[in-house]
Amino acid sequence: MEGVKRASSRAGQLTQQLLTFSKGGAPIKKPASILELLEDTIGFALRGSNVRYETSAAANICPVEIDEGQISQVINNLVINANQAMPEGGTIRIGIDNVTFEANGGLPLKKGKYVEISIKDEGVGIPEEYLNKIFDPYFTTKQEGSGLGLATSYAIIKKHGGYIKVESESGVGTTFYIYLPISEKEIFTVKDIVEEGLYFGKGKILFMDDEQDVIDTAKQMLTHLGYEVEIAMNGIEAVEQYKKAKDLRQSFDAVILDLTIPGDMGGKEAIKRLREINPQVKAIVSSGYSNNPIMSDYEKYGFNGIIAKPYEIEELSKTLHGLIMGMEEQHHKVNC
Ligand SMILES: Nc1ncnc2c1ncn2[C@@H]1O[C@H](COP(=O)(O)OP(=O)(O)O)[C@@H](O)[C@H]1O
Ligand SMILES: [Mg+2]
Repeated sequence: MEGVKRASSRAGQLTQQLLTFSKGGAPIKKPASILELLEDTIGFALRGSNVRYETSAAANICPVEIDEGQISQVINNLVINANQAMPEGGTIRIGIDNVTFEANGGLPLKKGKYVEISIKDEGVGIPEEYLNKIFDPYFTTKQEGSGLGLATSYAIIKKHGGYIKVESESGVGTTFYIYLPISEKEIFTVKDIVEEGLYFGKGKILFMDDEQDVIDTAKQMLTHLGYEVEIAMNGIEAVEQYKKAKDLRQSFDAVILDLTIPGDMGGKEAIKRLREINPQVKAIVSSGYSNNPIMSDYEKYGFNGIIAKPYEIEELSKTLHGLIMGMEEQHHKVNC
């Protein structure tokens, strides 16, 4: 029974390889984090094997735009080959790095930034006379090999505007290098813009207002948009909660403050104290009085955005999304 299952799953994989290879399926690319994809794929490819793997990734790996299904198929092919090259067991070392190529960088790649994925095994190695054949369709040295794994992988990486190459030494091991062009787009880990013009997001929001029905509405909207919400009824409470969260290393991703609270500390004063606690605080001011001078000059008072009351969920979602995600994008441009 086991044998049958294994055989049929191999046939399934083969059909998949052939399909991708022959119809040349144009990749459906989306910005993605390569690290997560690698971890998921490799763990699965090596289940039940005596081969271990180690990953070492540089900090701030740039996002890439990939067809996740296809790239996962490439990683799977390479890891299975590495696994088969080490019948006695061993370690596969995965490296991920950002690299920059100038024009004529030695590889058939356009000048620019790439993410480099290296997959290194300590297996039997590839004899020199085979090195320029292994990417050919149907080239195999295995009894039950298809010779399609590397040919398919090569085609997929080329279609992504990248390149794959190999270095190997008989009896020592083999390293495959994959280069994928980096994405200029920001990645959203959660649902992005969807129907009805809403921007969904993720993160912790501190919401301050003194009116219970305003609080209820806002809480409902923010939760619907994907945020976690905590409530403060006045400026003093907001400052306390903000400080406490920061001390616990569970800082708020953004705060929304009512401009004025009768008889209590409002947003105008609270933002000064919040900026003392964290100069990078992301703060939105809200008011029912759009003619208040602070509302037109909000940045001078230390706010990053404004929202008029009563809240419109579209406006709320857009302002928050821009504030939280927009800053992440700047961050990525600087570091990657
Ligand atoms: N990591 C590796 N170590 C040693 N040889 C390899 C490795 N990867 C690929 N090869 C060689 O390249 C050939 C082609 O690989 P592939 O296209 O995946 O087809 P298959 O695995 O079905 O043989 C293999 O048969 C093997 O000779
Ligand atoms: Mg193979």
